[in-house]
Amino acid sequence: MDDRVTWPERLKDVDRSDDGLRAWVAERIHRLEADGRRSADTHLVAVDLPASWDIHLYLKDESTHASGSLKHRLARSLFLFALVNGQLRPGMPVIEASSGSTAVSEAHVARMLDIPFIAVIPRGTSTRKIALIEAAGGHCHVVESAESMSREAQRLADERGGLFLDQFTHAERATDWRGNNSIAVSALAQLELEPHPVPRWIVVGAGTGGTSATFGRLLRYRSLPTSLCVADVENSAFFEGWVQQDPTLTTDHGSRIEGIGRARRSSRASCPESWTG
Ligand SMILES: Cc1ncc(COP(=O)(O)O)c(C=O)c1O
Repeated sequence: MDDRVTWPERLKDVDRSDDGLRAWVAERIHRLEADGRRSADTHLVAVDLPASWDIHLYLKDESTHASGSLKHRLARSLFLFALVNGQLRPGMPVIEASSGSTAVSEAHVARMLDIPFIAVIPRGTSTRKIALIEAAGGHCHVVESAESMSREAQRLADERGGLFLDQFTHAERATDWRGNNSIAVSALAQLELEPHPVPRWIVVGAGTGGTSATFGRLLRYRSLPTSLCVADVENSAFFEGWVQQDPTLTTDHGSRIEGIGRARRSSRASCPESWTG
C-alpha cells in the first residue's frame, strides 16, 4: 500500500433510531388507517330546486363523521402529520387552541391513539362543546380571551413537554388534498354519475382555510374548469385581505360564527377565483 495516501479521520455515526418509538408510531398510524377503513364516506345531498332555475345544487353533509363535523378529517390529518414528522412520543400531551368542533374531533382521535389531550378554550365556550370534549376524554383549559388561546396553548406545551398541534398554522399543509381522506376527492368522486360530473362552482367557507385550499389544489391539479368561491362572514379578515391583496390585514372583532371567519389570516389558505364577503 502507498503510505503517502493519508486517510481521513473515521466518520462518526449518530444513530438516534429507536425501535420502540418506531413501533409506537406505526401502531398509531395503523389505528388511524383502520378507523378510516371502518368509516363510511359522508353524503353528498342533492337539493331539489325549481327546474326553471336550471341549477343543480349539492351539499356535502360532514355532520355524519364519528366526531360530528368536517373537523374529523382535520383531526386525523393533524395527528397523522405529527406522527410522521416524529413529533409525538408516548405519554406526551397534545394541546390545541379551539373553542369548537376541532377540539371535539381532536379529543376523539387522541383517545383512539391513547394520547392525552388538552383543549385551550376561551371563557364563554358553550357547555355543550365542553361536555363533548370531556366525554371524548379531553381536558379543557380556560383562558380569558380568544386572542390569547394560541399563546397559552404554546406555553402549556412548553411547560408540559407536549405538542401544540396548531390547526391554524398546519391545517392546509397537513391535509392530504390528493389522498383518500380529502373532502375534495370525495365530493368530486360522488359527482361522477350526476348530470354534470364537473361542477361549475364549488362554494366553501373558511376557518383555517384548509378545506378551501384542499379544493383549490385538487381543482388545479386535475386542470378542471371548475371555479372556487370562498364565502366569508362578517368581521373576518379573509375577504378584505383578498380585496386589498394584503395578507396582513386584521379586523377588530372576531367572527360571530363558530368555525368560519378569522380576525387575521394565519395560513397561506387558498387561492380561489372568487371571494364573497
Ligand atoms: C360551515 C363551515 N364551512 C367550512 C368550514 C371550513 O373550515 P376550514 O377552513 O377550517 O377548513 C367550517 C369550519 O368549521 C365550517 O364550519
